[in-house]
Amino acid sequence: RELADKNDLTLGASITADAFRTYPDDPAVAQTLTREFNAVTTGNALKMGPLRPERYTYNFEDADAIVNLGVKNDLLVRGHALVWHNQTPGWFYPWEYTDDQLREFLRDHIHTVAGRYRGKVDVWDVVNEAVADDGTMRETAWYDAMGEEYIDLAFQWANEVAPEADLFYNDYGIDEINEKADGVYALLERLLDRGVPIDGVGLQMHAFRAQEYVTPEALGENIRRFKDLGLDVHVTEMDVAYDRENVPEDHLEHQAQYYRDILEACLDNGCDTLVTWGVHDTASWLRNYDQTITDDPLLFDEDFDPKPAYFAIKDLLANR
Ligand code: G3I
Repeated sequence: RELADKNDLTLGASITADAFRTYPDDPAVAQTLTREFNAVTTGNALKMGPLRPERYTYNFEDADAIVNLGVKNDLLVRGHALVWHNQTPGWFYPWEYTDDQLREFLRDHIHTVAGRYRGKVDVWDVVNEAVADDGTMRETAWYDAMGEEYIDLAFQWANEVAPEADLFYNDYGIDEINEKADGVYALLERLLDRGVPIDGVGLQMHAFRAQEYVTPEALGENIRRFKDLGLDVHVTEMDVAYDRENVPEDHLEHQAQYYRDILEACLDNGCDTLVTWGVHDTASWLRNYDQTITDDPLLFDEDFDPKPAYFAIKDLLANR
């Protein structure tokens, strides 16, 4: 955390409400987070599913706990995510309302959630994963009802109630220049042309098969073109995994080098934020996602001991 501050780097981790409830060693997540990082992302707590168990009821308990932990410990707080098609509540589909009602619903949702955390959430992932793998707009309930305009509106509504917050578009698989990243680039260009209040783009950086994943050079090139649009670029959900059939002999060393090189490429190209998708391996979403890849993708191990990747990052930051 100290070295991150010195390098003007926002170094964050996502945590889930499990940090306060499920793990037997509860305080360790909060302790490690606040000692080692200067930013926190709100994991699942602010997604519509966990937040709105019933149509007219918000449950802010988990989100409040994470946001307040961040505020109390001077962490930059990243709210994730105001608009997403995924992890919606059970009652959300099938949607039986008119297009206008869905628009009104989204406005109300964004005003309620972003408004509640005005002055506490510093950066919002306003729209998450709105582009399909082929670079076209993803067909979601929002898109069906409003077309691409839902994105403009989401940023405008967030800006109305949280004008001091930085507003981001966030997506996966756009870490290097490819078909999808080109689609996102074109979308963001259109948003900027239309005067939409967007501050930046989040590259999630889920490196599932790290040996074949994005090189630092390719990341750098991609960061630069988004920066050239006038946007900030953040790495927002990094984790580093390996195909179980092709794990390097010392994969923790490979992982360390990869984290180090990606962070270096980030810093060298004007990206000042890197967030890992969890503090310690036990909390990784990869534990429940895909059994064909390794599930120790983060900077701290199950016992909260720092891994080689932690020391590699520390070393890079100490020597810049
Ligand atoms: O909370 C329920 C629990 O009550 C239930 O018993 C259990 C049984 O399945 O499910 C629990 O909810 C799960 C939740 O994680 C909490 O663990 C959901 O099923 C599961 O779908 C959800 O997965 C999350 C996923 O987003 C949703 O698509 C992951 O934790 C979360 O790490 C992941 O995060 C996303 C980012 O938001 C966006 N970018 C990609 C990233 C990875 O997919």
